[in-house]
Amino acid sequence: MIMEDLEQLRNSLMDEIAGSGDLDTLEAVRVRALGKKGAVTQHMKTLGGLEPDARKAAGQALNVLKDGLAAAIESRKADLAGAALSARLARETVDVTLPARPAPVGHIHPISQTMEELLAIFGEMGFSVAEGPDIEDDFHNFTALNIPEEHPARQDHDTFYLPPVEEGGARMVLRTHTSPVQIRTMQSVEPPIRIIVPGRTFRADSDATHSPMFHQVEGLVVDQATHMGHLKGTLIDFCRAFFGIEDLPVRFRPSYFPFTEPSAEVDIGCSREGGQLKIGHGKDWLEILGCGMVHPKVLQNCGIDPARYQGFAFGMGIERIAMLKYGMPDLRPFYDSDLRWLRHYGFLPLDVPSMVRGL
Ligand code: DAH
Repeated sequence: MIMEDLEQLRNSLMDEIAGSGDLDTLEAVRVRALGKKGAVTQHMKTLGGLEPDARKAAGQALNVLKDGLAAAIESRKADLAGAALSARLARETVDVTLPARPAPVGHIHPISQTMEELLAIFGEMGFSVAEGPDIEDDFHNFTALNIPEEHPARQDHDTFYLPPVEEGGARMVLRTHTSPVQIRTMQSVEPPIRIIVPGRTFRADSDATHSPMFHQVEGLVVDQATHMGHLKGTLIDFCRAFFGIEDLPVRFRPSYFPFTEPSAEVDIGCSREGGQLKIGHGKDWLEILGCGMVHPKVLQNCGIDPARYQGFAFGMGIERIAMLKYGMPDLRPFYDSDLRWLRHYGFLPLDVPSMVRGL
């Protein structure tokens, strides 16, 4: 083995290493030089046949060559990997100057939004949410609420009855109001009770302001010292928060519901000048909800002692208060799924109502 040969081998391998354009080519060079059958390895195998002095010199030279090649290969490898990474980063850059996504097309339906507003207001006052079934029995929808058989109030409800399961058996009803959830709650939890009940309700009635399916929210408070003053304070605060008018006039007008005694309807101030309804100050009044002190018979029907506990309740139509707040003239488009209407009256998904951020 002549030293010049090694020098030549070194030069040509170094050229090949430097000239490798990718990691695969470089690996092939490494195998050809340092692999089991590589040129340097082959030379190593000839060492055994040399004289001791020549073997030592050739061995050292080969080791230097081997280390030099290995270092050159590692360094070339690092360069190629770096270049590959740079190329990939360049390919995968994000153009941050691109415009944001187009405005979202989905909107929150006014009924959902109004329910969220109700939850925000009453949640702040310490109410929790209760729910009940859409299909009710006569007891929960009527009888327990002190609306006995043949009571004239039953006729007002335009009830949808389901066919009896057995011939001559009891008919279930699509609940005509959310009040049956009062009964279910009082039957199952001990006072103190402080709930609101949003939900679907059904009556056979249909025109510009009535739909056979609509939504109500019910409220119920039962405790040992609950009185009419609590009812008034709660509902005045609610009306003012919901309509966003701090000094909104609120009036309680005596009324009648079988499940409350005394009962009242709540009106808010408005003006109808020039045929346009404006909520706030004005000469007129607008009815928005029914309420009263829970009738002792209703407490009794649920196993609550009326000598110990008293309560108040209220109920209102969600579509109705939404129409008043947002100036919607007709109820029917609420259920038409007309995208033009939804875009106009709908709310942005991130406009979540809260008492802190405003409704
Ligand atoms: N359930 C009544 C209705 O559908 C609304 C109502 C009035 C509910 C007075 C109440 C209440 O809880 O106290 O017309």
